[in-house]
Amino acid sequence: MSLYSPIDRIPLSEPWLTDAEQQAVANTIASGWLSTAAPMVDDFEQAFATQFGFPATVSTHCGTAALWMALVASGIQASDEVIVPALSFVATVNPVCYVGATPVFADVDFETFGLSPATVEPLITPKTKAIIATHLYGFGCDIVGLRALADAYHLTLIEDAAEALGTIIEGKPAGSFGQFGAFSFNGNKTLTTGSGGMLVGQNSDEIARIKRLTTQAKIFTHGELDHFAVGYNTRLSAIPASLGLVQLQRFPDLLQRRIAIANRYAQAFDGWFRGCPPPQNGITQEPSYWLSTLRLPNPEKRLALLAQLGELGIEARPIFKPLPFTQAYQPMVGQLHFPVAEKLWQEHINLPSSGTLSQAQQEKVIEAVKRYW
Ligand SMILES: Cc1ncc(COP(=O)(O)O)c(C=O)c1O
Repeated sequence: MSLYSPIDRIPLSEPWLTDAEQQAVANTIASGWLSTAAPMVDDFEQAFATQFGFPATVSTHCGTAALWMALVASGIQASDEVIVPALSFVATVNPVCYVGATPVFADVDFETFGLSPATVEPLITPKTKAIIATHLYGFGCDIVGLRALADAYHLTLIEDAAEALGTIIEGKPAGSFGQFGAFSFNGNKTLTTGSGGMLVGQNSDEIARIKRLTTQAKIFTHGELDHFAVGYNTRLSAIPASLGLVQLQRFPDLLQRRIAIANRYAQAFDGWFRGCPPPQNGITQEPSYWLSTLRLPNPEKRLALLAQLGELGIEARPIFKPLPFTQAYQPMVGQLHFPVAEKLWQEHINLPSSGTLSQAQQEKVIEAVKRYW
């Protein structure tokens, strides 16, 4: 037994790996390629673009870096405002601060867990330059409405699709509605490379420029190494890329497993399970259920329930604390009036959703939740 063997618990979301991933990593090590210049990195970007139909892709060492590069490429800088969701993972908003701009938090919609034109439009000012819209837990937000709003105000729309690989909205993949879409391949995501990300875009020239920026903006002039800008070192490297190539091939299974887990929870918890949101202005979607999400009939027992599940080795967790309530962002936010984000937070938890979750483990989760909720 290795020091890193899994302990006897039911994790929230762990990687689902097979011999094929082990072999791919071994092959990469044997090839001698490890850096960001490895051919596997180009291959992964190309295969991702082809599989999901994105016009152009550049890989990054994490999803946070993909969002950061999108903001850099959009020219967002100090004195600009970027509208962001009050309910999301903190990595949606941190890159806004990295470029020196000001995040402006908008409340979210109860059905989609995401931004909507109604929550965003009142916050647009002459300083607003971009909107970052998250598809939380694999639920698609009203990205078609947000696209129209961004166009009307000449704003850049960036989709944070870190949690939504495989989500389909209006027949198209989440991530394909904004100027940019960002994905995460963190160890807890449906498709994982350990740590990794992908920035997708509509404009191949722009993505090609970002690709050069992610490798220190290197160019060769007259045989000498030169740099066309102040660059970054944010591209994915060879070992995670080779893992990603295998996970891409397995993606239909990885996704179907998450959906099957969600379907079983939906059946067990009846109307309390958060299934597919209703159509937004007639636009339908197919969520990818990265993390299954449950509404609690007795929200006041939320923390006690989580503690009881924890004692049974079941890793469930509260949904994200609204970002304006966090220690990092509270001092920047004048008012704390985000009633929908707050209600969602107080009333919902995420349930174990790993592809590795066995039927017996899922039944154990269901039984335990029903005993204590
Ligand atoms: C909504 C959201 N945005 C951004 C990220 C950042 O991705 P990463 O952890 O790969 O940097 C994550 C994932 O962790 C996320 O859940």
